[in-house]
Amino acid sequence: MQVLVIGGGGREHALCWKIAASPLVKKVWCAPGNPGIASVATCVDIAADDIERLLAFAKREEIELTVVGPEGPLVAGIVDRFEAAGLKIFGPSKAAAEIEGNKVFCKDLLFRYRIPTANFRAFESSSAALGYVEGLREFPVVIKAAGLASGKGVRICKDVVAARAAVRECMEERAFGKAGERIVIEDFLHGEELSVLAITDGETIVLLEAAQDHKAVNDGDQGPNTGGMGAFSPVPGVGVRLLRQIESTVLVPTIHALNREGRRFRGVLYAGLMITEQGPRVLEFNARFGDPETQPLLMRLKSDLVPFLLYAAGGELSKIEGITWRTDTAVCVVATAAGYPGAFEKGRTIRGLDFLQRDEQLEVFHSGTARAGNDWITAGGRVFSVCALGADKAAAQRKAYDALERLSFEGMHYRRDIGNRRPVS
Ligand code: AMP
Ligand code: GLY
Repeated sequence: MQVLVIGGGGREHALCWKIAASPLVKKVWCAPGNPGIASVATCVDIAADDIERLLAFAKREEIELTVVGPEGPLVAGIVDRFEAAGLKIFGPSKAAAEIEGNKVFCKDLLFRYRIPTANFRAFESSSAALGYVEGLREFPVVIKAAGLASGKGVRICKDVVAARAAVRECMEERAFGKAGERIVIEDFLHGEELSVLAITDGETIVLLEAAQDHKAVNDGDQGPNTGGMGAFSPVPGVGVRLLRQIESTVLVPTIHALNREGRRFRGVLYAGLMITEQGPRVLEFNARFGDPETQPLLMRLKSDLVPFLLYAAGGELSKIEGITWRTDTAVCVVATAAGYPGAFEKGRTIRGLDFLQRDEQLEVFHSGTARAGNDWITAGGRVFSVCALGADKAAAQRKAYDALERLSFEGMHYRRDIGNRRPVS
């Protein structure tokens, strides 16, 4: 069959790479893709949010399965549009994707169904939010733009001065545009973060292995938050018991709650969690595969991914057997351009990509690269990620960081501590 993947980052590169390896698949297309993705899929020059052109393309090429990477088109209703045209597409409807697209909706839902998450208040005006902040006794607090902000709309405020500034930045200066018209102010939770993704058809759940992201731009979790600087899997200390607890206290009740609200969720439900002393708490939900988490997860996935995507999209996920994983650890380190997550440089020549020896245990997934003649150049904030497998975490880290030593561009930055988190317990 022919599969169309929508998006053009490292997550989509990893998805195309894994989907292309499926014996069920004759051809993979990616819209818009990127020049790195072009080694495993045919790129089509249609933007990920141009729903009408994507639909026309999928009809014309008789695409049998479309897989949506980023949240933008999901929140804009691409799945509803494809399904109305009779096409099979993996991802949640517009109504279900609101769990990611609107943090006020998400927090309200979690509270109404008693799904564990931090206490919060939502605000629509900066004066009300500022008034609330002045009365706060305990810090830090967490201030979040309610809409989509590419992982950058969250501020952890250590005192009232920082909290005032965060409210103003979001609601008055409109740093995140419309996404910041409403905000959520919530309690700060202590613990270790964990990403748990599940493929679901709205009834059956297939839990993926846990992964950990590293959101801050610098080592030791210093500096502003980014879309993700690296991830690894499996996570020490996360065993079957904790995963079952997350499934039964977070994922099952959330999928049930969405069903009860008439928003059946099909696709990947991604729970961003804080594992606190009192148990798992939801930080956020995403309605899609995580980036970069998907990269180490797919390196470890032994099963063919395609049947899971097909059956989830078709509402028949209960029909397939369990999912299998390599026991190896996968570590993925993202290389970023100078300035990221703020304004960043583009057009720097990347050295070493064509000479790097790949093997079964080493992949480079591209997120923001372009071609200039025979050269590779930078074209995004996150430029590429190096993903390595190893018998244990230390071996995977060594392999990934050795490869990074061979790659360079002016201003290249990456964290040196991906994988060095405290065990979750
Ligand atoms: P979110 O986009 O809501 O997942 O938030 C981005 C990041 O901010 C998370 O990955 C956490 O590192 C941090 N964060 C968000 N909410 C909280 C919270 N209530 N307590 C502590 N850290 C938080
Ligand atoms: N890595 C965080 C995300 O995909 O939202």
